[in-house]
Order: sequence, then structure tokens, then C-alpha cells
Amino acid sequence: MSPYSELAKKLSAQLSLYDAQEAESLVSWLLERHLGLRKVDMMHFLEEKNLPQKLWEDMARLKTGEPIQYILGKGPFYGREFFVSPATLIPRNETEELVHLIIKENRNAGLKILDIGTGTGCIPISLALEMNNPEVYGVDISEEALQIAEKNGVALAAKVTFSTCDILTQVPEVAELDILVSNPPYIPEQQRSEMHKNVLDFEPELALFVSNEDPLIFYKRISEIGKQLLKPNGKLYFEINENYGNDVASLMQDLGYSEVRVLKDLNEKERMVAGRR
Ligand SMILES: C[S@@+](CC[C@H](N)C(=O)[O-])C[C@H]1O[C@@H](n2cnc3c(N)ncnc32)[C@H](O)[C@@H]1O
Repeated sequence: MSPYSELAKKLSAQLSLYDAQEAESLVSWLLERHLGLRKVDMMHFLEEKNLPQKLWEDMARLKTGEPIQYILGKGPFYGREFFVSPATLIPRNETEELVHLIIKENRNAGLKILDIGTGTGCIPISLALEMNNPEVYGVDISEEALQIAEKNGVALAAKVTFSTCDILTQVPEVAELDILVSNPPYIPEQQRSEMHKNVLDFEPELALFVSNEDPLIFYKRISEIGKQLLKPNGKLYFEINENYGNDVASLMQDLGYSEVRVLKDLNEKERMVAGRR
């Protein structure tokens, strides 16, 4: 066994929260971060006594279940690296699928787009960079999240205008939209017990939870706002909790949206709803 494999195995055995393969890839990320080397370059000359102190500190954080993205301060989304912080949700694969759907279905130039609950800004920044010269806006209630979104916009050279807005009490000042998109908080408090410790202990509550009494509060409010802010025929796209596809679709239909579709993700779970004003 090469010194790299031996060391990687030894370190990953300390991460008992994760299965063996996942633990090994987390350790590779840390080695690469702290030694500035790729796995193939490290094969021959690694020794435990040469590892930097910071790597051991990060190992200690991994052992608590803290997601690697928070430890490294960034995570991948739609082919790019986004800064994350404890104030932002870590971008998810399902959300990449939502972004992909929007890009695929909207090829015209100059579309005006608003993302509500923008977090790291991963949705509007990806749309700004992948679509044909759109005009893109993002809002969030969290100032700290917006600072990260701004930082991502600058680092990735994306033109997105970010601003603060509590969507439950305010209406964003952006009218005549072609596309309104949102991945709002959608986990009812009662589902806390089913959730993984590394989400519960580390990701921001504000980004995740809604009350058991009114789990669709964001969908109702954003659909209503969409009736004001979207152009006639403008499109509304949501990421949803897999349990609420039909409920979100019917509340959109009740408000007069047409062509309402519930769409599945790659894991065959109902994860997106789209409709036209
Ligand atoms: C599920 S996260 C989505 C983050 C990001 N769009 C993504 O897909 O990774 C929901 C976001 O909504 C924001 N949020 C929560 N309550 C809000 C409110 N009342 N008004 C505006 N944004 C809100 C949270 O701060 C969080 O960034």
C-alpha cells in the first residue's frame, strides 16, 4: 500500500459518522486543501508527521459531523465553486436540476429573472452565466447570506443585483418579470427527527424550516406575488418538498396559473413545480 493510501485509510477510519468510501473522499479533499496537491501527486511522499496542524483541526471538525463545504468555505454547484457560510444553505443537486430546467426551457435573450430566498446566490448566478444575456435579481431575508451571494457574484463575474427582502411581509421592487424562481424553506418542523445530524446541527434554520401548521406559506405567498410581478405568460418555477407536489400545483392552479407541471428529479422524486401566469 502506498504511503498516501495508508495515511488516507488511517485518517478516514477516524470519521466513523461516514461510510468508508465517503470518509476517504472527505479526507482526500482535506489533504488536497492543506497540501495543495492532488491525490496522484501525493501517492509517494506523504507521512503523517509532516501533516500541517490546520489539517488536524479540520479533521476534528469533520468528526463532529460538520459538512466539508463549511470547513472548506465552499462547495460545487452547476460546474462552479460557490462560497458558503453558516448563514447559507449548502447548494444541493436537486437545485442544479431546477437551474438546468430553467436554462433548457428559456433560450430567448434578455429575460428578466428574480430568485427569492437566494442563499449563496447559486441559482441567479448560474442563470446569469448560462443564459442568453438575462437581467437577474436575487433577494433574501438574511443579510449575512446576501454578503456571501455578493461575494460569489464578484468571484464568478456574474451580473446579479442582490437586495434584502422579507418575502412574507414585503414585495420585491422588480416588476415585469419573465421568470420567478424560488427554492424556499420547505421542511415542516415535525420532520426534524428524520433529518441527518450534519444538516440539523450546522445548516441555518431560517433556510430550512416552516411551521407544521402552514408548511406551504412560502409557496402561497410567492405564487400570489408572482401574479403581480410576472408579465402575462411569465413563468414561475419552484423547488419543492417531495411530499407537496400536488398541493403546490393546486394552489398555483387556484390562483389562475396555467400549464402547471409537477416534475421529478433524477431520483424519481417530485421536486419541481412550474407554471405560467
Ligand atoms: C432552502 S434555502 C435556498 C437557498 C438557495 N436558493 C439554494 O437553493 O441553495 C431558502 C432561503 O430562503 C431564505 N429565507 C427564509 N425566510 C425568508 C423570507 N421571509 N424572505 C426571504 N428569504 C427568506 C433563507 O435565508 C434561505 O437563504
